[in-house]
Formats: sequence, C-alpha cells, structure tokens
Amino acid sequence: MATATHLHGRIGESIKRKEDARFLRGKGNYLDDFVLPNMLHMAILRSPHAHARIKTIDTSAAGAMPGVIAVVTGELMAQHKLAWMPTLSGDTQAVLATDKVRFQGQEVAAVIAETKYQAEDAREAIIVDYEVLPAVTSPDGAKTAGAPLIRDEKEGQKDNHIYHWESGNQATTQAAFAKAHKVVRLHTFYPRCHPAPLETCGCIADVNGATGKATIYMTSQAPHAIRTVFALVTGLPEQQIRIISPDIGGGFGNKVPVYPGYVVATAASLLIGRPVKWVEDRTENLISTGFARDYHMTGDLAVDKDGKMLALRVHLDSDNGAFFSDAQPSKFKAGLFHIVTGSYDIPTAHVTADGYYTNKAPGGVAYRCSFRVTEASYLIERLVTNAAIELGIDQAEFRKRNFIQPEQFPYTSATGWVYDSGDYPKAMDVALKQLGYDELKKDVEARRKKGEVTGIGIASFTEVVGAGHGADFDILGLRMFDSAELRVHPTGKAMLRMGVKSQGQGHETTFAQIVTEELGIPAADIEVQEGDTDNTPYGLGTYASRSTPVGGAATAMVSRKLRDKAKKIAAHLLEASEADIEFDHGKFFVRGSPSKSKTIQDVAFAAYTNLPDGLEAGLEGVTYYDPPNMTFPFGTYLVVVDIDRGTGQVKVRRMVAVDDCGVRINPMVVEGQIHGGLTEGFGIAFMELITFDEEGNCLGSNFTDYLLPTSWETPKFEMGETVTPSPHHPIGAKGVGESATVGSPAAFVNAVIDAVGHLGIKNIDMPVTSDKVWEALNKVGAAE
Ligand code: CDP
Repeated sequence: MATATHLHGRIGESIKRKEDARFLRGKGNYLDDFVLPNMLHMAILRSPHAHARIKTIDTSAAGAMPGVIAVVTGELMAQHKLAWMPTLSGDTQAVLATDKVRFQGQEVAAVIAETKYQAEDAREAIIVDYEVLPAVTSPDGAKTAGAPLIRDEKEGQKDNHIYHWESGNQATTQAAFAKAHKVVRLHTFYPRCHPAPLETCGCIADVNGATGKATIYMTSQAPHAIRTVFALVTGLPEQQIRIISPDIGGGFGNKVPVYPGYVVATAASLLIGRPVKWVEDRTENLISTGFARDYHMTGDLAVDKDGKMLALRVHLDSDNGAFFSDAQPSKFKAGLFHIVTGSYDIPTAHVTADGYYTNKAPGGVAYRCSFRVTEASYLIERLVTNAAIELGIDQAEFRKRNFIQPEQFPYTSATGWVYDSGDYPKAMDVALKQLGYDELKKDVEARRKKGEVTGIGIASFTEVVGAGHGADFDILGLRMFDSAELRVHPTGKAMLRMGVKSQGQGHETTFAQIVTEELGIPAADIEVQEGDTDNTPYGLGTYASRSTPVGGAATAMVSRKLRDKAKKIAAHLLEASEADIEFDHGKFFVRGSPSKSKTIQDVAFAAYTNLPDGLEAGLEGVTYYDPPNMTFPFGTYLVVVDIDRGTGQVKVRRMVAVDDCGVRINPMVVEGQIHGGLTEGFGIAFMELITFDEEGNCLGSNFTDYLLPTSWETPKFEMGETVTPSPHHPIGAKGVGESATVGSPAAFVNAVIDAVGHLGIKNIDMPVTSDKVWEALNKVGAAE
C-alpha cells in the first residue's frame, strides 16, 4: 500500500465550512443584495378578507402616483392567460384574484414602480370593493352541510372536499382489532406552523427584450424544476429561461413552491422590458406562503396482553387552505404520512386521509420534513407513549418490545415501505445510558411523592428521506433523480456542479468531501456550484433531506466514473496494465510496488497532455442518479421536563438526542443540522402557532405573535450517535437535515404527558403553552 499522507477533507473529518468564509463576513449574495441596472420594484396588494367576492378594483389613483409604471390586476393577467397557475399537487391557484379572494393575504393586484417605496405607497391607493362572504377555517367547518363553497370556480366541485386516500389493509387491520386485548386511542392536532426562514421569498425577473432570454433570480430550493414549470406556465422556450438561486437564507420547504409574485414579476418584466424586483416582507411571508402541518389525526393502536402491538388504524383530516398546493410527490395525496407505523413491527395497518379546502393560505410544504413524515412520526410516538401509560408498562420497555429488530432489515412495513437498515434497540440503549434513565426514573418517582410535576419523554422515530426512486417519486411527472457534474482541471483542481441547492446546509463543503474520498483531491481544491440552471445539471432540488441520499450519491458515482478513467491514464503513465493499477486516496500505483505511483494531480495533467492512444482528452463527467430506495435515518430522543403547578410553565431540564444517519460525511455539519432541527422542534412543541379567528383573520402574522425560539428559550442539547450505514447508498450515508425537526416534537410533548399522564391527562395539543398546561392541571385539580 502507498503510505498515505494526510488528505484534507475525507469523509468523517469535521473540516470547517467553506461557505462560512463569506457568510460570517457578511459577504453572502442573497437575493435582495442584487441590484440590476434600470431595475423596477413590485409591491403586492393582498386581501384583508378570508373570503370575499371582488366587485370592482379601481387602480386609477394608484396608476397616477409618482414613479408608478404599471398596476397589474387579475383581469390584466387573464388577458395573457396567467390569472391562474397549476400547483405542485395538480390543482390550480389564482395568481391575482379575478372573481373572489379565498384567504386573507391572497394576491389581488401588484404595483410596479421606480422605487420600492413608491410601489408600496401606490398599493395603498388601489380601491377594491369586496362583498364579504362567510369563512371556513377548519376541515370540520368545511364538511358541515351548507358550508360556503370555496372553490366555486372549479367545474364539478360541489363541496370543499379535495381527496380521499387510503393505504394499508383494512380487512386484516379490522380482524386484528377484533382480537385485541386493549385499544388505545389518541386524537391529536398537529397545528399549522410556518417554516419562517430568516430570508423571506422573492425574485428579480429580467426579461431581455432583444434576446427574449428571461433571467430570474429567485429564492428557490428547486431551480431546475421551477424552470420547467415556468416554461409550461408561460409558454417561454425552456432554454430561454435561466433561474439563478443565489445564496439562500434558509428554506425549510418554504422556498419550494411557485408563488404568484414570481409569475407577476416575470410577466411585468416581459411587458415593460425592465428588470422587476419583488421581495416579501415578514408578514407577507407568514400569511401567504407555504405553511406546514395542519393535520387533525386520530390513531388507534391494538395491543395484545403481552404488550405487543397488533395493528394500527389512523384517520386524518388535512386542512389544505384555499388551493391544494402541497409540495409533495404526485402519487401520494397525503404525502408520506403512511410511514406512520414508525419504528415498530406492527403486522397490519390501515390509514385513511381526507383533504379539505378552507379559507386559509395554501401550501402544505414539507417544513424540514419528507412530505408529512413529521405528522406521522408525531402521531405514532405520541400514541405509543399514551399506550405505555395506559398499559402501565415503562415507555422504553414498551418500545423495545415492539421495535423492528436489526435482523429484520430490509423490512417491509404494513403500508409497503421497505426500510433499508436500522438498529433501533442500540440507539435506544445509547440514549438511555447517556441520560441515566434508570436513575432518573427513580428521581421522578421521588419528586412526584413530594408533589412535583416532572416527566421523561421518549421518541424513537424512524424517518424516510431521499426522494426518490423515479418509478414511485415524481413531481408533476418529473422523476425525482438528481445529478452531479465533475470537472477536473489540468492542475488537479476540480469543479463540482449539482442539481441540488443549499440553503445553508453546507453543501459546498460536504459534497467536496465525497469527491475527496472517492478521487483523492483535497476538499480545499474543489469548488462546488449549485443554483444556476444554465450552468448546473438538471435536478429536482433540495428539500426533504434528499441532497445527500440523491445528490451525494450522484457525486460519489461521478467521482468513481472519473476514477475509472484516471486508472487508464495512470496505467499509461506507469507503463503497466490497467488491471494491475490500484488506487489509495489520491495515489495510483502498480499492485505490489507502492513506491512507484502517480498522484491524481499527475493523472489530471496527463488527461490534457499525455494520453494513451484512443482515449478522449479531459477528465470530466456527469451522473444522473435514480436511487433504488429511500434511506431511513432514525434516532432516540429523550427529554426531561419540570412543570410549575402555579403557572403551567414547562422547563426542559435535559434533552439527549441520539441520531443515526448512517455514515456521517462531516460530523460537525451533521451536529449543526441536528442542533438547528431540535431548536425548530422545540419551537413547534412549545411556542409556534399560525391560527385564525372565526372570520379567517390570521393571528400569527409577525414575530411578536408567531414566536420563534431564541437562544434564551432553547435548552441545551446533549448529542449522541450510532452508525448504521444505508446498504444501497454508495457511501452508506442517509439524509439527516430534517431528522431532529421530525423526531423531537413528540419527545417534548411526551415528556409533558409523562409528567401529567398519571393525573389522567392524555393529550395537550401543540404548542404546549403554559396556559394550556395550567388549564389541564386545573381541570384535574392539580394546579396551584
Ligand atoms: O437535503 P439537505 O441538504 O437539506 O439535507 P441532507 O442531505 O440531510 O444534508 C444536510 C447537510 O448534512 C449536508 O451538508 C450534508 O452533506 C450533511 N450530511 C452529512 O455530512 N452526513 C450525512 N450522513 C448526512 C448529511
């Protein structure tokens, strides 16, 4: 073997993030940093009502105001066949309202002016005459007989029902329930919350009147897919559309959909012939762009007398808002909710889901989540804890008794998923040990005797990430593969271009590390580029933690492709047969003679200067990777809470988070991802809520009402890990970005329920605020 000198940035090394050099110096290039010559600004007028008929729109005063170039209404958009657009779930959505407004904050008109402030001032001068209609604000309201019909413009739509969807086996599930020793029921609501990225959404549309080329700078997590959708919606030839996603300040699913503002700005630029910039403010982002969750769920778990789970039955009602524009694979109406059997070997399950229109903002995006796996994980983990309490079995023991065992992988779940790998008992044991569970349980008992309200919460979640195998996963027909293009320059430095798009996850560092591992080029010598559709290979983008499972796999595969070619060149340089060439982290040598070697840099130079006869020059390639399966990361989260009887305030005393995402490319980046996700999970569990009054007014429209956790509220997280590689991923990695947001809300709430469960309290819906906890304690006579 060649003696390996240190190769900077191999897999497993926590090298510092390359991109931070610019982010920490304030030198990032976010959308609002771009200023194009001759650029105009757009402001959108939004509906103050949740449901109202538009009688008239008077734009004359606004149009006459200083600096105003145009006032755009739905009527004008309709003349260009752009008043409505298709959604990612195959529905239609109004771009600018023509007939009715269907949620508070809906786009009604837009002003294009020389400056942002002129556009905003003129917006105030548009006069809209509304006839206010009664609003529907919940699925229950939507299904009530005589409920107002929200989508009355849709032919054949007679009520507010969107879809019915089922998964699993009803007959075998019913039969198992008939034999159950006990059935535990949980009805719970996963409330509407919002990804709330620090940077809001926006775009600059620049349609060149001379060439016809539309260059659109956009805060998009999926620039290539957006380009195709734009081509289909506007009729512009796809090669004439260039989407540039610059640095993005957080996406979390919020920056996947096509928003009306993008379409109006592009149409305006096309008609006016100047670049048009539109950037949302915070309230616009919170009230009108893709929300998350809003699932009303009922779960029944059938258990035998030994505490073994027999069957699971679940029904959910989904509140989709005014337009069904969930961002999810076409085949799954309720996203990937049917992963709901979680980490447990449940022989049979039956899941039903119904979607409803309401007078609320559309979206249903996967907020740091694989298309509704978060709701599924929350339901099963909450249900399992409730069942353990009702059965009088220790929560950890009940879970262990029912875990899918390591030797059962690959495991086919009752709803048909093939889990790739897992070792749930191990993750649980590591977490219990790290927390000191047995001691803490005794401590909890002792505290309870003294009248304290304290509890331990567990979530041993399984996730499904890496969408996905093209035969099953597509968005509007586009198969969900992803791509990597690698070019090694003559001096041995490289450029990696990808179809995914980082929003802060560190791709410029971690994907370079995969090339380092596979081809031996130091990570510092590799530039990673993403986000420009003219210069990167086609891909479906970054959401649902799919970048590592799909884009990362493509990176490994293209590196291997280049390594194979490099071997041929090395054989030529070493005057040996290709079959005798071995590779060890950047060095090629003849088997048995490690001292005679050529580096990858030597080979790269030769690829342009000294090739064997018949071999094409250059060292570059592209791979499109269609994953054979999803990856299934998992973990065990443990939370200890203390509750104040006098105020209902919940204090998180400890949290241990053990994650398994297979092989970790950069452990520091992984920990950062988990830290961020746990913080978001904490916020969802205890603080964040987008809710509506009876008239459909949004009550979470700013950061004084919609509470995000700061470092002040966020507890300290104690992390641990196990490593169970994915057998089908080229480097054994699973995605991790969303794991903590998916797994942690149930752990936090389960801790509260463990603390109050013995008092007869079975559920407190998120966010678990002090007033709700105090009221629940008061009802059972346990409040002070
Ligand atoms: O798709 P997204 O980038 O949001 O999620 P991801 O694929 O889970 O990756 C998040 C970040 O963690 C990326 O920089 C990954 O390369 C890194 N990661 C890692 O270092 N090791 C893993 N096993 C998984 C992700």
